[in-house]
Amino acid sequence: MDSSAASRPAVVIDNGTGFTKMGFAGNVEPCYIIPTVVAVNESFLNQPRGTGKSNNWLAQHSAGVMADLDFFIGEEAVARSRSSSTYNLSYPIQHGQIENWDSMERFWQQCIFNYLRCDPEDHYFLLTESPLTPPENREYTGEIMFETFNVPGLYIAVQPVLALAAGYTTSKCEMTGVVVDVGDGGTHVVPVADGYVIGSSIKSVPIAGKDVTHFIQQLMRERGENVPPEDSFEVARKVKEMYCYTCSDIVKEYNKHDREPSKYIKPWRGIKPKTGAPYSCEVGYERFLGPEIFFNPEIYSNDFDTPLPAVIDKCIQSAPIDTRRALYKNIVLSGGSTMFKDFHRRLQRDLKKIVDARILASEARLGGEVKTQPIEVNVVSHPIQRFAVWFGGSVLASTPEFYAACHTKAEYEEYGASICRTNPVFKGMY
Ligand SMILES: Nc1ncnc2c1ncn2[C@@H]1O[C@H](COP(=O)(O)OP(=O)(O)OP(=O)(O)O)[C@@H](O)[C@H]1O
Ligand SMILES: [Mg+2]
Repeated sequence: MDSSAASRPAVVIDNGTGFTKMGFAGNVEPCYIIPTVVAVNESFLNQPRGTGKSNNWLAQHSAGVMADLDFFIGEEAVARSRSSSTYNLSYPIQHGQIENWDSMERFWQQCIFNYLRCDPEDHYFLLTESPLTPPENREYTGEIMFETFNVPGLYIAVQPVLALAAGYTTSKCEMTGVVVDVGDGGTHVVPVADGYVIGSSIKSVPIAGKDVTHFIQQLMRERGENVPPEDSFEVARKVKEMYCYTCSDIVKEYNKHDREPSKYIKPWRGIKPKTGAPYSCEVGYERFLGPEIFFNPEIYSNDFDTPLPAVIDKCIQSAPIDTRRALYKNIVLSGGSTMFKDFHRRLQRDLKKIVDARILASEARLGGEVKTQPIEVNVVSHPIQRFAVWFGGSVLASTPEFYAACHTKAEYEEYGASICRTNPVFKGMY
């Protein structure tokens, strides 16, 4: 182990489809949360092909160098692409998986050198991956980290395991539970027993934060709200993050809004990006209809109609029977799209209904003579849901066991990238 690097805090980066959370182990919050997006100057990338003349080769070479230098990430990338048509946006992660490795490498480069401002050779790294990531992706990540950035040690953790490891449920870190991670590009329901993911029971739902934003955008457009089209997705996202909440019953909620519109309808004011003129519009039913797509997906999607509480129930029912009670008892929320007010309450209530109905049905089948022990359903809500994965990484990467579990540069050089395929669960997780 490189002892000087091990005496410095590890770098913890949770790369999400929508947002990257980055910082140093031991901190309670990430230093930065920025959109996972890169703006590259296309004018350098689209240089004409060489004709064999040496000055053309030189022009191409320097264009390549400039393309390597002239790019931006995060909010800065979004701003560049707005102000200049020569910058094109690339979103390297789609549905939790890295799809564009060049962009991802550029993204990491700026995270390390421009945001965290550290020398990667001096720090161990903890990165995260979505639960269904193929092992070869882990190898590519390892190659980039060890070859390009020369990191002394690397651990790639599964996102929901880290969310559990955040250890906020009890003073003792509980490593058995179901993590419901609702991010921007995907929703995963992942059962974990003693720190090990029960892979065969993972369930994915094709509805997440981006879909809520799309739905709100669509509702506001259909109602004819006066939002400039080029800004409507961003406005919908902000409306969602500021004003949406989970209701207990849609019909009752419509009635509440209709009875007291002044209490429930919120004004929205903005500036038209093209002309700079101010505009205003109203935010109404979408406040509760947005998050409702998790509980009644058929209002949004023609292809997927299983409510999230039913997916969680299916997940636990497919796990080994001796783990089920412990799983129902510790359902942990993670990801920005679990932040809607009362989201955990609705989830707990609807799941409890499913569980209680099953117990009643089985008791009825047995003629009412056998009484089943009630099952405790507990959905845990906590203040750091937004970056629970990152926080779990920060906690784990500050334990001595983390340094022992990391793959080191020396191992990489001896055995190659295949060592990155597996990342052992380590004692720091208990
Ligand atoms: N206060 C809030 N209320 C509702 N949604 C929010 C809130 N804050 C952030 N979000 C939404 O959470 C999503 C981002 O969450 P998160 O950072 O967990 O996703 P991610 O890690 O980028 O994506 P994934 O895990 O799917 O790869 C975005 O859709 C964002 O709009
Ligand atoms: Mg995430």
